[in-house]
Amino acid sequence: MAPPSPPPSSASAPISRHLRLWLRRRGRVGAAGATFAVALLAAALLLTLSYYASAPLASEDSSSGRSPALVGLTLVRGAQEKGALCLDGSAPGYHLQRGSGTGSQSWLIHLEGGGWCRNLKSCASRQRSILGSSRYMERQIEFTGILSDDKSQNPDFYNWNKVKIRYCDGASFSGDVRDELQNGTRFFFRGQRIWEAVMNELVFKGMRKAKQAFLTGCSAGGLATYIHCDAFRALLPKDSRVKCLADGGFFLDVEDIAGTRTMRSFYSDVVRLQGLREKFSNCNSNLEPGQCFFPREVVKHIVNPVFILNPAYDAWQVQHALAPESSDPHHSWLDCRLDIAKCSSEQLEILQGFRKELHDAISEVKQKRDWGFYINSCFVHCQSLNSLTWHSPTSPRVNNKSIAEAVGDWFFDRREVKEIDCEYPCNPTCHNLAFVKPFKI
Ligand SMILES: *[C@@H]1O[C@H](CO)[C@@H](O)[C@H](O)[C@H]1NC(C)=O
Ligand SMILES: *[C@@H]1O[C@H](CO)[C@@H](O)[C@H](O)[C@H]1NC(C)=O
Repeated sequence: MAPPSPPPSSASAPISRHLRLWLRRRGRVGAAGATFAVALLAAALLLTLSYYASAPLASEDSSSGRSPALVGLTLVRGAQEKGALCLDGSAPGYHLQRGSGTGSQSWLIHLEGGGWCRNLKSCASRQRSILGSSRYMERQIEFTGILSDDKSQNPDFYNWNKVKIRYCDGASFSGDVRDELQNGTRFFFRGQRIWEAVMNELVFKGMRKAKQAFLTGCSAGGLATYIHCDAFRALLPKDSRVKCLADGGFFLDVEDIAGTRTMRSFYSDVVRLQGLREKFSNCNSNLEPGQCFFPREVVKHIVNPVFILNPAYDAWQVQHALAPESSDPHHSWLDCRLDIAKCSSEQLEILQGFRKELHDAISEVKQKRDWGFYINSCFVHCQSLNSLTWHSPTSPRVNNKSIAEAVGDWFFDRREVKEIDCEYPCNPTCHNLAFVKPFKI
């Protein structure tokens, strides 16, 4: 049998240039519910799901109708001297949009996602992509969803200073390998130093005087949010309000449909390659190295309040943790992993088991009073970065609250937010994805 193929997000170049996906809204066909075909531009766009921004729905749903702000890329100064470098040795970067008015002393940071690379081969292909080199990064990107400066799309954070930090280290901003040569080839595993260098610049640019700050991130950036939440808190004034939001980052250490722990072995490779075991020195030494990289372990040590935003049927995880191609030799999951509406009743039962695993994992944080969560029953991945899922007249709701309303209520202590949706297919407001091809090279 062929060895398990790496999760797709080890993807590099625009894997999904030819990928089309259909965004389907259950129920309400005709309103925003028509089915749209969206041609995707790049893997990173796919992984962060920011492609909604360019989809017809996004502008249709935006009540103001104005197009999203374009925000320029800033490269980190002195990156070379600090050794804070992307996989290929180029300087890392971020996009900063200044806040205004009542938001001018508030900072929202977003850590970009895009999977991980587990070996030199997959990291080498990343070196030639936006996920491994600033040489390929867009010079300007659109700020949408939680990054939008449009009050109707982003009611609580629209006028804050907002920063999107680009992801180019392959290990959720966590590696710090001194050696530049790996088996004779130059590789920089320096995510931790990138994190520190960018934070230094932002502190200098005004974050040191922040009254409020919010660290957010999606997918691999959601995992990075768990990892760096307490360090972020420590950077900010003692009397400031500081919280964290991890979107689509609660990766589960589950057995897949063949009884294999595909994600655990994948994470073990990442941890070994980028020397992360040291970073997780408080992780139980009896565990396999990869286990320490799962949020379930990481959250045990977080002190600062965190909001967990995750779909119960995370599309990325269904495709690569629960039903990876390598564990499905007869392709019996081919349709289901692309479109939850095509799952058989047996497959749905397995998906309900996956949902239960997430709920069990979350139950450990239910006791934490200051924490919040919003686990909807949608088949989607990241939900905070586009107006359609974040906040719009047709966005998904749980207890009649959009994600933006729930997150805002929690951030500002307007109420306790611990929302758990009923089982699929109970929620007609979901924007379930339907893929032609999975998140994959
Ligand atoms: C470097 O090469 C050796 C020998 O081929 C191999 O065993 C080792 O796994 C390689 N290291 C990495 C990080 O791939
Ligand atoms: C749901 O929320 C909307 C807007 O927030 C409100 O107008 C509507 O009345 C609410 N519906 C119910 C059933 O509470």
